[in-house]
Amino acid sequence: MISKSKALKGNSTKVYIKTFGCQMNKLDTELSIGSLAKKGYSFAEEEKDADVILLNTCSVREKAEHKVYSQLGSLRDQKEKNPKLILGVLGCMAQNEGDKIFKRMPHVNLVCGTRMFSRLPELLDEISAGNKRILAIDEDGEVNFDRLVTQRQNRYSAFVSIMRGCDNYCSYCIVPYVRGREFSRSVTEIVDEVKKLADDGCKEVTLLGQNVNSYGKGLSGKVTLATLLRELDPIDGIERIHFITSHPRDMTKEIIEAVGELPGVCEYLHMPAQSGSDRILKKMKRQYTSAHYRELVDMAKSIVPGIKIASDFIVGFPGETEEDFQETVSLLNDVRCQNSFIFKYSPRTGTAAIDLVDDVIEETKKSRNHIMLELQKKISSEENIKMHGKSVEVLVEGESKSNAGRLIGRTRQNQIVAFSPPEGVGQEGVTSALPGTLVNVEIVDSTDLTLFGDLRDFTLNELAH
Ligand code: SAH
Ligand code: SF4
Ligand code: F3S
Repeated sequence: MISKSKALKGNSTKVYIKTFGCQMNKLDTELSIGSLAKKGYSFAEEEKDADVILLNTCSVREKAEHKVYSQLGSLRDQKEKNPKLILGVLGCMAQNEGDKIFKRMPHVNLVCGTRMFSRLPELLDEISAGNKRILAIDEDGEVNFDRLVTQRQNRYSAFVSIMRGCDNYCSYCIVPYVRGREFSRSVTEIVDEVKKLADDGCKEVTLLGQNVNSYGKGLSGKVTLATLLRELDPIDGIERIHFITSHPRDMTKEIIEAVGELPGVCEYLHMPAQSGSDRILKKMKRQYTSAHYRELVDMAKSIVPGIKIASDFIVGFPGETEEDFQETVSLLNDVRCQNSFIFKYSPRTGTAAIDLVDDVIEETKKSRNHIMLELQKKISSEENIKMHGKSVEVLVEGESKSNAGRLIGRTRQNQIVAFSPPEGVGQEGVTSALPGTLVNVEIVDSTDLTLFGDLRDFTLNELAH
């Protein structure tokens, strides 16, 4: 996933940030933009117009790191033409690779790890003042969550970090090494931030954490994700609350009940299973069985009508036999996820699994990946057909990129819906008045990825509000 920073007003050094990786990285980019904007930096629309190019990077699979190295390679020309250009690598790969980045890419000026973002303005100032290279990857750096709420890419939807880091050390995963120990923010800090976002017109918040449902560990008193959701739900203006990503080991009935009871909390759980084989789950150090995963999904479906489950799966983990893989296939078949992210195992230096032989050959990984993708596609298509004739609440995002004049938005379960605006709504309605509003859409058609529908119960007067 790659997203680009938006240009902001200003007149000094122009920064361009390109983001790779997960939602936490997108939020870190936003926090960095905020801290740079406070110090008077401005932002370029395009890489070619920038005085500073920063890549906020991901290390989760080898391919993610390759992508960044190849981008850095292709920026060499631009740097040669403009030696004053500052080139920086931020985030997980900066933390993971450290000064190896300088060795492979001598034209890079800054390597700034996951706990150093708030120091970005001073680091850039220092480089401009003549320091050619800075390595800033201290592990005890303080993460500064103080954000400029007005500095957001999306007016009505925002990510909110409720915790950082991860203590799980799943055997294949680099995240605990690059993001550090798990740390929960206080309820007051989160509530304050969400209130400020609501005052700024935000309607939807997505609470972020690598292991979001273990929120509260280390905080005093009985604080859990469920108690936090109960504090956030009543905030005026916030219509939808999501939280990602949940670890099956830490999922509780208390959290599922909060999802069922609280009107603002969306009926959607992103809860990666990773594998359906208990033997592999054990080797992955996931600390649950596939039977437990099934029980959790059954519980969620019975307590929260209409809830949709999303998952991640890794295929080709060391020692994964055909039988193990078939157990993963049958887990997906039973759980019938709305969508899932399927990855081929990628060995990461420093993780526990690096000591296991990566013995599933690439061809097998590819074919297992393909089988899972096809199965997910089939399940998504079938589940989407069941939605035909139903009316769903959609938060309008904007004009469809592939189909001008049509609108797209999302259901509470995170499904994409495409629909035509009502008669009489002109371009202004499509591009600026409707985005951010909640409308009812009757689903009439679908593919595996998109629901298509018609607007219902909509009057043009609603646009005036
Ligand atoms: N904290 C989240 C996910 C973090 S990484 C969680 O625990 O659910 C996102 C996904 O990348 C993981 O869920 C996993 O499926 C995948 N992943 C992580 N390390 C990987 C590796 N070494 N090879 C392949 N996929 C990996
Ligand atoms: Fe990685 Fe496991 Fe932590 Fe998720 S829970 S970030 S997969 S170590
Ligand atoms: Fe996210 Fe990749 Fe870092 S998945 S936490 S950006 S390693």
